[in-house]
Amino acid sequence: MKANKSSQRDKWSSGFGFIMAAAGSAVGLGNLWKFPYMAGTNGGAVFLAAYIFFAAVLGVPILLTELAVGRNGGQNAVDSCRSIAPKWGFAGYFGIAGAFTVLSYYCVVGGWVMKYLASCISDNIPTAEYFAGYTTLTSEPMIWQLLFILVNSVIVLFGISGGIEKVSSVLLPLLIVFLMGIMIYVLGLPGASEGVSFFLLPGRSDLGFGDIIRICVRALGQVFFSLSLGMGTLITYGSYLDKKDDLQKSTVTIVAVDTLIAIICGLTVMPAVFSFGMEPDAGPGLIFSTLPAVFGRMSSGWLISSVFFLLVLFAAVTSAISLFEVIAAFMTEHKGMKRIWAVFIPALCVFALSIPAALSCGESGRCMVMGMAFFDFLVFLSDQIIMPLGGFFLCILAGYKWSREAAEAEISGNGQHRFPAAPIYFGIIRYAAPLLIVIVTVASFIS
Ligand code: TRP
Repeated sequence: MKANKSSQRDKWSSGFGFIMAAAGSAVGLGNLWKFPYMAGTNGGAVFLAAYIFFAAVLGVPILLTELAVGRNGGQNAVDSCRSIAPKWGFAGYFGIAGAFTVLSYYCVVGGWVMKYLASCISDNIPTAEYFAGYTTLTSEPMIWQLLFILVNSVIVLFGISGGIEKVSSVLLPLLIVFLMGIMIYVLGLPGASEGVSFFLLPGRSDLGFGDIIRICVRALGQVFFSLSLGMGTLITYGSYLDKKDDLQKSTVTIVAVDTLIAIICGLTVMPAVFSFGMEPDAGPGLIFSTLPAVFGRMSSGWLISSVFFLLVLFAAVTSAISLFEVIAAFMTEHKGMKRIWAVFIPALCVFALSIPAALSCGESGRCMVMGMAFFDFLVFLSDQIIMPLGGFFLCILAGYKWSREAAEAEISGNGQHRFPAAPIYFGIIRYAAPLLIVIVTVASFIS
């Protein structure tokens, strides 16, 4: 049974609520966990400059396209793509597949965050070595990631205006305020300025052409991940928008908030690490092994660490719910499922996939796929394959299959909001973006 399109569809209750939900989707583990160590290990200021450049030149137009495609279609990612070109539903399926893939490892990390939060609150700040031991356990991590999945599922069950929007409107502002508080505290620690220079100044002056290319490849990947692009998330969120809303202003706000929070995170994590003489290049383990050790040496470290992990949890939840919603919207509208099943059946599948993902993080050699730990395989699949392909096909769909007049009318809200950048926008969507995505994807496979 196809769902009837005439039935009253949920909507965002306010423009502010939508911005909080969309920015909440963007602001996630990508900002708090990935951005600081990516910047730290990829040339600091050079990475930051490349990141800001790609966010402005590719992030803004692609995000705008996703919202426009979603609002135009007024349905889930697959059917919204189909409403532009009937054969192009597959572009939306990248979103569904991507949501499952990202969620399966996102929930593992979400579970770690919950466990760390619980430990910090009970004044047991984990040591640097704790992380390696914890991830080899078989049952406890599963319980925490199941809890993380349940929390998200319940929020999504309450729908757009009643669940996702309400939760994001509270959590994102709280995250911004507390994060700034922690940043100010950390910047006041002795030795913090060294971390600031590490984050903001290019580490070496002898960067060659190859290094620059490598940095650009990583920066572009990070822009896609951090802005939740190429996976139907913003198509789905855009489909709940009103025709009156200004898509251009929303897009710029979402990108600005996400970028600003990423920079604040860099200015929090790096100075803290340097101030206590720790190594900044622990990579993915940075916030789970290095940072807790830093907190452990601070006076009232339990309080700072509890607040920090609470913020990481907020960020992870507002992102995970956006991914669950991509699937739920598809299941209810395309498959005609009741919302409760459209939420909990996929949640169960995500949990099943997250088990081998979690197990593969502990002992090496456990749950391998194609010579990679299953966790890394999921990251590879989403970051290197699904996300770039999804973004590529979205550009082709919007740039070539959609008439320019129709696309322009949707973006400008039938002329309600001027769209002076239209010529630049179409140039990017048609030529620059697809080309850059191909170049970067090829480059990342070569390197
Ligand atoms: N943007 C989120 C982060 O920074 C992760 C995320 C949520 C995501 N939804 C997505 C990534 C969709 C890609 C696609 O952590």
